Amino acid sequence: MGATLTPTTLELDAGDVVADVDPRVFGGLLEHMGRCVYEGVYEPTSAHADEHGCRTDVLDALRELSFTAVRYPGGNFVSGYDWRDGVGPRDQRPERLDRAWRCTESNQFGTDEFLPLCERMGWTPMMAVNLGTGTADDARDLVGYVNEPAGTHAGDWRGRNGRAAAYGVDLWCLGNEMDGPWQLGHTDASEYTRRAREAAAAMREVSPDIEVVACGSSDPNLPSHPAWSLTVLDEFGEGLDYLSLHRYARNFGRRPREYLGFGVGVDAQIEESARLCEEARARHGLDRAARISFDEWNVWYKTAPQTLARMALPARFGGRAPHLIEEVFNLEDALVAAGFLTSFLRHADVVRVANLAQMVNVIAPLLTKGDDLLVQSIFHTFRMFSSRRAGDSLRVTAVGPAYETRRFGTVPEVDLAAVLGPEALHVFAVNRNLTATAPLEVGLAGRSLDRIGPCEVLTGPHPRARNTWDDPHVVEAAPFAGLSCTAGSAELHIPPLSLVAATFPLAG
Ligand code: AHR
Repeated sequence: MGATLTPTTLELDAGDVVADVDPRVFGGLLEHMGRCVYEGVYEPTSAHADEHGCRTDVLDALRELSFTAVRYPGGNFVSGYDWRDGVGPRDQRPERLDRAWRCTESNQFGTDEFLPLCERMGWTPMMAVNLGTGTADDARDLVGYVNEPAGTHAGDWRGRNGRAAAYGVDLWCLGNEMDGPWQLGHTDASEYTRRAREAAAAMREVSPDIEVVACGSSDPNLPSHPAWSLTVLDEFGEGLDYLSLHRYARNFGRRPREYLGFGVGVDAQIEESARLCEEARARHGLDRAARISFDEWNVWYKTAPQTLARMALPARFGGRAPHLIEEVFNLEDALVAAGFLTSFLRHADVVRVANLAQMVNVIAPLLTKGDDLLVQSIFHTFRMFSSRRAGDSLRVTAVGPAYETRRFGTVPEVDLAAVLGPEALHVFAVNRNLTATAPLEVGLAGRSLDRIGPCEVLTGPHPRARNTWDDPHVVEAAPFAGLSCTAGSAELHIPPLSLVAATFPLAG
């Protein structure tokens, strides 16, 4: 019999709703980087290729994750990309040096491959325009190319390229991480905001109803944080729908308890940015505050030195689809990924879009090798949440044990979120304790929890356990039976170092 923590109690109230969960919080990033596109979703020579050149094994696995908003084509890549290179007859598309990742871009996959793929997969396209080396006119022309009807110059160009009907892309990113010195065309916050406003105005000449996302401070550790976001919010003013945030969890200290508290840092980042958005709204008398598009998030540290080394070699370019940042994720990474998702759910009123970066091979839930596919630990995390996302996020005021960390202060032993759907309550719980089981008592005011639906647990033999090509089932979700319902409340026993996703069907 192992150790047991003091119980955590979670009293939920169906009337205490944070907000509806925007499905777009379960988005992804498909960047022209490394082997995300090529040898990832697109590989015409693969035994799995469909008639479009896409890998059916990869797409089938991505379908299980039910991605919503898919951001494309970058990432850093977009800041040097001319979208015109990626449309038209394939044999006439130029092969170019991609200056962001210092490799060769064949342009065999572009806008007219991405958008039909979104339609086939049921993804909501979220396209980024180049505000590094690109202009407002380039951005407007791209919006015209995808959104103007047949009979216009842009619509007819698209038609000649094989697509008559407009795609209707509604969500647009105004550049990427323009606060980062690594970004092509990096500049200061005022100049970026000028570019972003100009581009948004030009894009809205073509499609007045699009929603736009401006680059906020992309990393709380940058010296320009948070002043960058403040300037963008103040100088953009009316018409900014979302402020973009990014975050990659690092774990250089090899202290699992510290690392597992990372979600508390995500909470702080969201709350600080939401406050800046609201204060800017009040200062400028805007109708509505910008909300948050957390459009890159994940764990990324094991392969970070490789990236820095590549960025430090300005003269060296290397081949097509190189193996870039193919992070191998372990159990503790999967639980930190869960900490991002619980935080997004708890902040459902402000976080309306979020994108797991990335979708295949590059810091991704899936790895390909030849025609084989490996499912990584974070795949299970994402699926466990994504399959239970429909509904309202309920306010979580739990009482339970906590521990102290150097980086994040006080961290609850059990990290929680709850979604009330039309027919069921879903509870997500991460036990951050390495050795002790966490008892969790859940009640829903005015409702009776007396039925148990599909429940899953994700755990493994130790924090660094991971799936490998030789042993691919070490960390994966399994049915969870460690719970019961008595007198209208539920009692769960969350195993050490695990994520539990529990569903309680409700009587109509
Ligand atoms: O996702 C990998 C890279 O991380 C993206 O291209 C960039 O936006 C971020 O720095």
